[in-house]
Amino acid sequence: MDNMYEKVLESTRYIKSKIDLMPKIGVVLGSGLGDLVDSIENKEYINYEDIPNFPRSTVKGHNGRLVFGKIKDTYVLAMQGRFHYFEGYTMKEVAYPIYVMKQLGIEKVIITNACGGINTSFKPGTLMIINDFINLVSDNPLIGINDERFGTRFPDMSEPFKLELIDKAKKIADEIGVEYKEGVYAGVMGPYYETAAEIRSIRNQGGDAVGMSTVPETIAANYLGIDVLGISCITNMATGIQKQKHSHENVIEIAQKASIDFFRWIAKVIEAMDEIKR
Ligand code: HPA
Repeated sequence: MDNMYEKVLESTRYIKSKIDLMPKIGVVLGSGLGDLVDSIENKEYINYEDIPNFPRSTVKGHNGRLVFGKIKDTYVLAMQGRFHYFEGYTMKEVAYPIYVMKQLGIEKVIITNACGGINTSFKPGTLMIINDFINLVSDNPLIGINDERFGTRFPDMSEPFKLELIDKAKKIADEIGVEYKEGVYAGVMGPYYETAAEIRSIRNQGGDAVGMSTVPETIAANYLGIDVLGISCITNMATGIQKQKHSHENVIEIAQKASIDFFRWIAKVIEAMDEIKR
């Protein structure tokens, strides 16, 4: 992407011209988890298509939006709808909103997704704190000439999900009685659900769950100096582990069922992560 820095600044200026109070916490909502925005109060929306330089949706009527508002006393910026590599976006486009979040002053981001479970102690509906990732896409958003204004050429990735945030999320889950697991998220290209042999291979590599998102945004956030908390909703067991075939409808249904606990948890975590109160 040419002149990315200037493009990001232009996107940021537009958003700032529309919104007075800038949150410090961002949330990226995964498939079936978009209803979290219902628990945001005093909402203000900006459609992606209205933001200069934002990636354009490939699917008509499916463009997402930024949602600004309050969860309890905490201001957040939620992304309702994200970009996926399998849709044909470049990795830089997939991660573009994270670059904009950085310029808006976002310091911490919760990245969520729906994904398939590989670890057999999981079941559909399990919520998993992501403690590391494996990038199984032979691409990432940092490929190309590096602009030092964003970050360093060779960023560290030894703590892609901030331990402090993981600890906080665990503590809160225990306090409010939300069950969770912990594991490694393997990011694949998609859009097909993996073969059984691919799942055996990913399990051998140390993956506990598999999905088609989250990794590009997490890489970009680390590069830009944004702390990440990653939470997956296991919507199905991966190919070969569960007998029945996969369907997107099933993924959405299970994610929505799990979302009650998920929202309760996320809201408390956001509160605990909070800097701006009013
Ligand atoms: N594989 C990849 N992505 C997914 C899955 C899966 O089994 N379930 C939900 N997203």
